[in-house]
Amino acid sequence: MSADYKNWVPNGMIAALAAGTVILGAGTAALMCRKMNPALKKALAGTAGTGTLVCGAMTAWSAYAHGKFSYDGKRQLSKEIVEGTAEYITLPEGGIGLDVGCGSGALTIACAKRNPQGKMIGIDRWGMEYASFSQQLCENNSGAEGVQNTEFYQGDACRLDYPDEYFDAVTSNYVYHNIAGVSKQTLLRETLRVLKKGGTFAIHDIMSKARYGDMQQFVRELYDEGYEAAELIGTTDGMFMSKGEAKLLGLSGSALLVGKK
Ligand SMILES: C[S@@+](CC[C@H](N)C(=O)[O-])C[C@H]1O[C@@H](n2cnc3c(N)ncnc32)[C@H](O)[C@@H]1O
Repeated sequence: MSADYKNWVPNGMIAALAAGTVILGAGTAALMCRKMNPALKKALAGTAGTGTLVCGAMTAWSAYAHGKFSYDGKRQLSKEIVEGTAEYITLPEGGIGLDVGCGSGALTIACAKRNPQGKMIGIDRWGMEYASFSQQLCENNSGAEGVQNTEFYQGDACRLDYPDEYFDAVTSNYVYHNIAGVSKQTLLRETLRVLKKGGTFAIHDIMSKARYGDMQQFVRELYDEGYEAAELIGTTDGMFMSKGEAKLLGLSGSALLVGKK
């Protein structure tokens, strides 16, 4: 059995959008054929027709993004990002690393493979919005990859259930932008709270100013607090993807925050 990392744009989402397009399209056609007040007909059919177009465009975009992210596809963008992020994670002998929002376990497992001398823990809330991801899936994927130095637990990125300075490394990929109602820099702080002095971090997300605020200032603050290294690396200048591809996929502003506490 090989690992199944699923897809950030699940099949279920594409199917639901496609079904919505068909239903709205059928509704539009039915309204057009029906005898009723012409003004009312125009308004109803116009609304249903617009809904059909919007839903159809979302279906097409989802199918496009699914293809780009697929682990079996030609582009394999998710794999490239996960493996590229894992390159920054180094554990000492017997060290423990944390992957926040591990999803299907891809990044946790990639870090564990690179660090057989240590152990990686993946946590995720495994909520409704990513229903295909689960703790069991992560454990199955770890087994399928022949990796034994991983553990997976339910957890919340907003309040990590670990003491200060517990981990030797922390990582995360495309998680915090999903979390509404909390400042993204506060989420970064919560992840860095559980990192030991001297530990490494590699956090990848859509760190646009609109979402994250002034990240250059954040980096300066880390240095002021005594971090050994902190750097923001844009990943849409060819590192993981081109600017054009990022724009099409809604990933503009993607960047890696890497360094050493
Ligand atoms: C786009 S997926 C990325 C999964 C994984 N990091 C990867 O690279 O494949 C986003 C993940 O963030 C998780 N997530 C969202 N909000 C979370 C929270 N508050 N705490 C923990 N995980 C969360 C979701 O459940 C989902 O698995």
